[in-house]
Amino acid sequence: MVSSLAGATSPGPAPTALTPAPFASTLAPPPTAAAEQHVSAQRHAPVSSPEEAATAPAEEGSPDALLIRRAMAEVAPVADKVTSYFYALLFVRHPDLRSLFPAAMDTQRDRLLRALLTAAEHIDNKEVLVDYLQNLGRGHRKYGTRAEHYPAVGECLIGALSKYAAGVWNAEMEAAWVRAYTTISQVMIDAAAADELRAPAWWYAEIVTHDLRTPDVAVVTVRPDQPYPFLAGQYTSVETPWWPRIWRHYSFASAPRSDGLLSFHVKAVPAGWVSNALVHRARPGDIIRLGPPAGSMTVDHTTESGLLCLGGGTGIAPIKALVEDVAEHGDRRPVEVFYGARTDHDLYDIDTMLRLQQSHPWLSVRAIIDQQANQQLPDAIRAYGPWNEFDAYLSGPPGMIRSGMNALRDVGIPSDRIRHDSVEELVAAGS
Ligand SMILES: Cc1cc2nc3c(=O)[nH]c(=O)nc-3n(C[C@H](O)[C@H](O)[C@H](O)COP(=O)(O)OP(=O)(O)OC[C@H]3O[C@@H](n4cnc5c(N)ncnc54)[C@H](O)[C@@H]3O)c2cc1C
Ligand code: HEM
Repeated sequence: MVSSLAGATSPGPAPTALTPAPFASTLAPPPTAAAEQHVSAQRHAPVSSPEEAATAPAEEGSPDALLIRRAMAEVAPVADKVTSYFYALLFVRHPDLRSLFPAAMDTQRDRLLRALLTAAEHIDNKEVLVDYLQNLGRGHRKYGTRAEHYPAVGECLIGALSKYAAGVWNAEMEAAWVRAYTTISQVMIDAAAADELRAPAWWYAEIVTHDLRTPDVAVVTVRPDQPYPFLAGQYTSVETPWWPRIWRHYSFASAPRSDGLLSFHVKAVPAGWVSNALVHRARPGDIIRLGPPAGSMTVDHTTESGLLCLGGGTGIAPIKALVEDVAEHGDRRPVEVFYGARTDHDLYDIDTMLRLQQSHPWLSVRAIIDQQANQQLPDAIRAYGPWNEFDAYLSGPPGMIRSGMNALRDVGIPSDRIRHDSVEELVAAGS
């Protein structure tokens, strides 16, 4: 349990006691709510950069939210320094926590702090936060994070903020941050505790087949050491034996199978640590670790709407899983798949998709090749339709997801009927 932020070195009086505070429930949503609410409903990351967060109009929100935003505006220009100082504080004051983190703290190291700052900024907006934080708390079990680690992180957050927001920092602001951090961490701690009762912190999985489909795309199939429950359209996090404690996300390429095997389509990106290990180094018999399933790009079986699916590159993997899911439910809903790639050579799974099309009269698959038609995936959907009876599913690189969102809204699909993976996570990964 988080009890206090004892040890924070910030100026001013002793930090406020960390008793979990309830979320403010009646206040107006934050300025970016329209976009962010959708994001969190569909997936799990209301994460914006400190710079973005700081540009939000500061006049709306609870007194705590206003104080939090004021501090964020102050630290935004020196976000990198705040991150470095935060980790320096954490590892100097709590050296035992260093071993939870990767040996090399790479470019993704700002994700923890970025998430914290953005969650604090959205502290008024319960719906946006809770799903995201519960998922994050469950996901932290695989790092070895325990409830007693949270005060240390909170203390160092306050330490870093108070140093870099010194110009505006005061006791009132510190108390607002302490309340926000307490609320955020309590949601994560509670979700992790509930998850402990029903799932392991991680799964070991043995690679059973490794199929190199192109020089840089492999289909990797693994057998988890215990049953792995998930839904078609979700993804997991993967750690390889070659890069300990470095986790990356990969989507399940099939709906749950009766033999319990899981497959992933992995594209080796230039200089990418985990993807290159999985594509070029992994072999049958190697053991990887899997985190819990995540993501809400799943089929809503309570409706009869059609599914309009856009998969770019390895983004076809979860789309294939969705098609299998519809088939298994015996639904006869129209499913229209647009499979995009730069060249026909990159359409590494087109045969599988065309086979599925042959077996299912409700399924249509169209390949959209940039270099042939000089047409990008999102543009292609404008040429077909109408789509007003469809829910949309988008999977691929963040640029494609963004332009896909615009194209789908243009053809009349409202945002709350568009599902996709986390753009912010993809951006953080540089993919
Ligand atoms: C929800 C979600 C689902 C995902 N599903 C899949 C999936 O099914 N299959 C899959 O292959 N990937 C998927 N990814 C991307 C994956 O998580 C990794 O980001 C990717 O494999 C790169 O990791 P890495 O460790 O190899 O590269 P890193 O070591 O993180 O990156 C090394 C360098 O490569 C750059 N880089 C990273 N990605 C790309 C890219 N795509 N193109 C060019 N340069 C890049 C980085 O900017 C960095 O400079 C998914 C990501 C998310 C967030
Ligand atoms: C409210 C508190 C916290 C928030 C909002 C938070 C958020 C995050 C986020 C967003 C990530 C990126 C990867 C992911 O999504 O899992 C992350 C990674 C991580 N977090 Fe946390 N975290 C918090 C507390 C903690 C605590 C208390 C610990 C334990 C010391 C911890 C340890 C880690 C580790 C080891 C990683 C992986 C780092 C890496 O991959 O480089 N976090 N955290």
